[in-house]
Amino acid sequence: MGKSITHKIIEQHLVSGEMVPGTEVGLRIDQTLTQDATGTMAWLQFEAIGIGEVRTDISVSYVDHNTLQMGFRNPDDHRYLRTVAAKSGAVFSPAGTGICHQLHLENFAKPGATLIGSDSHTPTAGGIGSMAMGAGGLSVALAMAGEAYFIPMPKVVKVHLTGELTGWAAGKDVILELLRRLTVKGGVGKVFEYGGPGVESLSVPDRATITNMGAELGATTSIFPSDAKTKDFLEKMGRGNDWIELVADEDAVFDEVIEINLSELEPMVAQPHMPDLVCKVKDLAGKKIDQCAIGSCTNSSYSDLKNTAQILSGKQTPPEVDLLISPGSKQVVKMLAREGLIEPLLDAGARVLECSCGPCIGMGGSPTSAGVSVRTFNRNFEGRSGTLDGQVYLASAQTAARLALEGEFTDPATWGPAPERVELPKDVPSIRDLFVFPPEDKSVVEILRGPNIVALEDFDELPQTVEAKVLLKVEDNITTDHILPAGAEITALRSNIPAISQYIFSRVDAEFVNRMKEHGTGVILGGENYGQGSSREHAALGPRHLGVKAVIVKSLARIHRANLVNFGILPLLLVDPSDYDKLSEGDDLVIPAGAMTPGGTIDITTASGKTVAVTNDLTKKELEIIQSGGLLNAVRNNQS
Ligand code: F3S
Repeated sequence: MGKSITHKIIEQHLVSGEMVPGTEVGLRIDQTLTQDATGTMAWLQFEAIGIGEVRTDISVSYVDHNTLQMGFRNPDDHRYLRTVAAKSGAVFSPAGTGICHQLHLENFAKPGATLIGSDSHTPTAGGIGSMAMGAGGLSVALAMAGEAYFIPMPKVVKVHLTGELTGWAAGKDVILELLRRLTVKGGVGKVFEYGGPGVESLSVPDRATITNMGAELGATTSIFPSDAKTKDFLEKMGRGNDWIELVADEDAVFDEVIEINLSELEPMVAQPHMPDLVCKVKDLAGKKIDQCAIGSCTNSSYSDLKNTAQILSGKQTPPEVDLLISPGSKQVVKMLAREGLIEPLLDAGARVLECSCGPCIGMGGSPTSAGVSVRTFNRNFEGRSGTLDGQVYLASAQTAARLALEGEFTDPATWGPAPERVELPKDVPSIRDLFVFPPEDKSVVEILRGPNIVALEDFDELPQTVEAKVLLKVEDNITTDHILPAGAEITALRSNIPAISQYIFSRVDAEFVNRMKEHGTGVILGGENYGQGSSREHAALGPRHLGVKAVIVKSLARIHRANLVNFGILPLLLVDPSDYDKLSEGDDLVIPAGAMTPGGTIDITTASGKTVAVTNDLTKKELEIIQSGGLLNAVRNNQS
């Protein structure tokens, strides 16, 4: 039987398990990436494992999230990341060099390789045929230490592409169409593997936009074949030797097939506040726009920004529209500058920002109160922009650039001819010298830590019986932004768990932290898709520091579930989702944790005599990790 690309890569990297969907497989990891917001913790964890140097083919530590230097915290963290990378044999990418996924795609990602990153949009590298997955920082630390990465063997969905994009439709519209059809829960436990005759018409940046935002489907990852387009891309990046051909066998069997005819797509937009609330741009005609932001790891490539410059050239945005542009890398900026494409951006009224995540993570560029912001990013959760009532719409770079000129949503049929599809130039300038490669002699490197870098605390084992109150009851679709808000003030504390924990659920219930302090332990009750969004493990570490012992939910997002396991918090699933209504904040619970078995059911009782059945989808190993008080304890126990 023929194999999919996904099966080929997994088979080559399989260290344990069998390729049966839903069962656990352990994978050898070739590459890792970390970014600063989650990376300081990942590197503290790597140090705590105590093996010295990384054991991957390559590990890269990027600084792209918190590049603002308002006080000592961020610069101290960057210095720590630079020095710990040098000491540990990893590559360091300084602030301002670019956004981790764009840089990794351009400089390090390889077809056929496995990559995990402490950022949920790591699947961007799937655009060149890498099996790239977002993971918690601790999983990345362990992969850097040479340990396998464990996932449930995914189902493989073929997205069969036919036709060709026309007019103003872009790669972004392919993934928006999938989100429209499948919703943010539609990809859980699945890899989306693209194939069919439509693939060859998509550029590598288009493919990377699509795999990037496959994260919003909740997918394990997304992957494109490595073909002639991939070869051309890698050759232009000076990495022709990294290319291998990688396609699914003719007779490969998939668990599911989805058809998309590219020729039928038109410009689309995701409406506030979910990436799957997708409609056609023309359906919003007449709605005023206050801001457009072009950039992020989803749409900040050379082709995105060249198209933007072509659309804006010789024109000006209306004064009511704030236009922000964040290029994905210095390589992108160099190419634009060389072709005289920065000037049209500036003349159009755009603010050209640093090559970093910037407005995507609320680092500046927040919209006005209730302002409508059209962004080329991947997420539009409430408050993520830094403005709680900001109305964020997600669109392609072409759409955002055109709408910036219009000042309101209009029908793309009135936009005139679309900009031509952009190819990379022949002589792409290199930025390789901007990366800091580790020295031969690492003994001379001193790891420099500022006062904001606080070593990890030890966590206790899980007791046989957990007695705790429900201290918070939340609705469906709670994101990691709800659990731990983004923004400069908070993320500057990412390497200081006691300090950052004070912000847990601060925008949902300002008294939650005080209740946790008063009781010392607690349980959180949640609805469907709890913990969706970013991979930030602080959304599990913070609650654990405060004493949260379990979350009881209807369903859980994949990466957050892994983070809960890694930090020893019980992820319990209501057997009957309607039991959610039976439990209330303030209920005293007795959880017989010692009686839990993988996939088994236990009864939770309340002091007032209610009984609720909960189950789990934990493997034996995951249950042991939780019982030991988290993965670091479990690894240390194994080592000793
Ligand atoms: Fe950065 Fe936003 Fe991507 S925070 S890594 S640009 S999702």
